[in-house]
Amino acid sequence: MFKAVSRPLPDLKDWRLSIDQWGIAWAEFDREGESQNALGRRPLEELAEIVAAVEKRARDKQVRGLVIISAKERGFIVGADIREFADLQTETDVLDKLRPVTALFDRIETLPIPVVCAINGFCLGGGLELALACHYRIATRDAGTKLGFPEVKLGIFPGFNGTARAIRQAGAPAAMQAMLTGKMLSASAARAMGLVDQLVDSRGALPWAARKAVLRHRKSKPAGFLKRLLDKWPARELLARRMRAEVSKKARGDHYPAPYSLIDLYERYGGNDEAMKAAETRAFAPLMVSEQSRNLRRVFWLSELLKGQAPKKLAWRPQRAHVIGAGTMGADIAGWCVACGMEVTLQDVSPEQIGKGIAAQGKLFARKFKTKAQRDAAKARLISDPSGDGIARADVVIEAIVENLDVKRKVLSEVESKLKAGAVLATNTSSLQIEDIAAGLADPGRLIGLHFFNPVALMPLVEVVRGGQSREDDIARGAAFVTAIDKFPLITKSVPGFLVNRVLTPYMFGAMQRLEHGEDKERIDEAARTFGMPMGPIELADTVGLDVCAHVARILKFSSQGSKLDRLVSEGKLGKKTGEGFYVWKDGKPQKTSRVFDKAEMEQLGRDLVEPLIAEAQKCVDAGIVENADLVDAGVIFGTGFAPFRGGPLHYKAAQSPAAPAQAAAAE
Ligand code: NAI
Repeated sequence: MFKAVSRPLPDLKDWRLSIDQWGIAWAEFDREGESQNALGRRPLEELAEIVAAVEKRARDKQVRGLVIISAKERGFIVGADIREFADLQTETDVLDKLRPVTALFDRIETLPIPVVCAINGFCLGGGLELALACHYRIATRDAGTKLGFPEVKLGIFPGFNGTARAIRQAGAPAAMQAMLTGKMLSASAARAMGLVDQLVDSRGALPWAARKAVLRHRKSKPAGFLKRLLDKWPARELLARRMRAEVSKKARGDHYPAPYSLIDLYERYGGNDEAMKAAETRAFAPLMVSEQSRNLRRVFWLSELLKGQAPKKLAWRPQRAHVIGAGTMGADIAGWCVACGMEVTLQDVSPEQIGKGIAAQGKLFARKFKTKAQRDAAKARLISDPSGDGIARADVVIEAIVENLDVKRKVLSEVESKLKAGAVLATNTSSLQIEDIAAGLADPGRLIGLHFFNPVALMPLVEVVRGGQSREDDIARGAAFVTAIDKFPLITKSVPGFLVNRVLTPYMFGAMQRLEHGEDKERIDEAARTFGMPMGPIELADTVGLDVCAHVARILKFSSQGSKLDRLVSEGKLGKKTGEGFYVWKDGKPQKTSRVFDKAEMEQLGRDLVEPLIAEAQKCVDAGIVENADLVDAGVIFGTGFAPFRGGPLHYKAAQSPAAPAQAAAAE
C-alpha cells in the first residue's frame, strides 16, 4: 500500500502505525483475532496512543498528515463494540466511558495536520463518528461500502458527538433522517449528503487518493448556508415538530424514547455544535442504561444467534431456486430470492397464473432497485417455467402450492426424480407434517420445511423445519439458503404450528374468546399495541384471513365451533382480503372509531393478552421444539413482531419475576 520508513508504537495489537517517505502517518485498523473492526476499549486506547504520537511528531514537523484506514479486506469499522456495553450498569459508568472517547475525537479534529479517513466497506455508528471527526473523508464506490447510524435500533443515538458533527456536515434534515431511521447509505448517497467528500472506484485506489488529499491539504466543507438556515429558530422548532410527527407513525415514545430524545436534543441545541456535543453526552447516558436499550441490544444479539443457525463454513452457495406455486406465497418467495440476486424459475398450473405472480413482483423490484437496468436484470432473473425445466438446475426447490396433502405428495414425487444431486427440497407448508408429505417420496429423508411468513418481503424469519427423517446436511443447507436470501433461519421440529403459529394461536384465540364474552375489539387491539405488539390480535386475525385462522385452529385443536370466527367464515367474511371480517376494511385499513382508552387499564389488559403466548413459548422450550429459550424468544420476536423492546416473551417473563435483574443481565 505504501512504503513505511518507520513504524512507531510497534507493540500495538489492534492498529499499525507507519510513517511513509512523504511523512504521512498511516493508522491501519486491524483488530486482532476478529474478522471485523469494532471500536472496543483496547482499539480506542491504542488510537489515543497513535494520536499522541502523531501530535508530537506533527509539532516537530516530522509528520505532515494522518490517514485512518482499515487493513481488513472487507469493512472499515462496524461501530462501537456492543459486547462491551453490558459492562455499563450506571449512567456514571457510561459517562466515564464516553468522555475519554469524545475528548480523543476532539483531539483528532484539532490536529494541526490534515487528517484523512479512507473508507471501504461498512462504516457504521461509532466508525462513522470517528470518520466525521477527521478533516476529509474518501470512500469507495464499492456496493459493500455502506455508511450509517444504526444506533436508534439499539435504543440509543450516536454518543461520540456524531450528532453535532453529522448535522454540521449534512445539514439537519438529512443528518437527522439518517440518525432517526438508522438506514444504511451507499457511498454515493453519503457523498450527496455531504458525509463523504470524495469517491474512488476501488479499495486499491484509496491510499493514493488519501495521500493526495493529505499533500493537497484537502478539507471537507460543512453544510452550506441554506442547509444550516434550518438550524435557526423557529425553523428548527418546525422541523423538530415535523420529525416528531414522522417518528410517532413508527414508534411510541414510551416504548422507544431514543428518537424522541434525539429530536429534543436537536430542537434545543441544533446549530450550536459545542453545546450540542455536551448535551448529547448527557442525554445519551440514561438511554444507554435503559431497559429498552438493553432489550434492543438483546434483540441484535438474538438476530446473530439466528444467523448462527446456518453453518459458517459451508462451501455450498445457492444461486438458482425453483419455486412451485405462484400464488400469494410462492410468487413472493420467488420475487424475494430474485431481489437477493438469485435466478428463479417459477412454476404453476398455467402460464397465466405464473404471469400474475411475476407481475406482482414489480413493486418489490421498484423498491429494491434504483436503476432501470437493475430492475430489468431482476425481471430477467425471474423466469416463467410452466413445465418445470428449472428443477434439474436448481440448488433449492421450494414447493408452495395448495395446502393439500395428496396434491403436495404427487407434485413432490414428480420433482424428486428430476432434482440434481445435493439440491435442497423444501415445502412451505404451514399446517401439514413434513413426515406425511415426505412419505410419498422415494427418499423421504430429502424433504425439509422452509416456512416463510406473509408478507414475505417484510417478515425476517423463516422456520427451517426438521422432519422426523430430514437429513442434517439438508437442514444445514436449508438454513444457509435462508441466510443467503437475507432472512433469519430458525430450526424447528416438525410439530403442528412449528414455533411461530404455535405460540400465536393461543394468543389470538384468547383474544377472540374475550370477544365472545362481550369485550370490545378495538379495546383489545389497542391494549396489545400498548404492550408493544405491532398490531392487535383481532386486526391480525383479519389480516391473516379468518379462513386461515379457522384452519390453524383445527390443526392445533382449538375449538372455534359456534364462535363468531366460524360464523364470519361461513358468511364469506374472511377479513382484509374480502373487505370485512371482525372489522370492515376500507383502502386496506380497518375502520375504527377514534376513542381514548384509560392508559393503566390498557397496560394491564395488554399484559393479560400476551400471557397465553408466553405460556405456550415456555411449553415450546420444554418440548424442545427449538434448541433453547433464547431461540424461542428470537423466533417469536422476528416471526410475530412481539414487542422487541421487551426482549422476547421468556425474557420479559423472567424480568417480571423477583429474581429478575441478574437473570436478565446474564441473558443480554
Ligand atoms: P395460494 O392459493 O395463493 O397459491 C397456491 C398456488 O399453487 C396457486 O397459484 C395454484 O395455482 C398453485 N398450484 C396448485 N396446484 C398446483 C400444482 N399441482 N402445480 C403447480 N402449482 C399448483 O396459496 P398460498 O397462500 O400461497 O399458500 C401456498 C402454501 O404456502 C401452502 O402450503 C400454505 O399452507 C403455505 N403458507 C401460506 C401462508 C399464507 O399466509 N398464505 C403463510 C405460510 C405458508
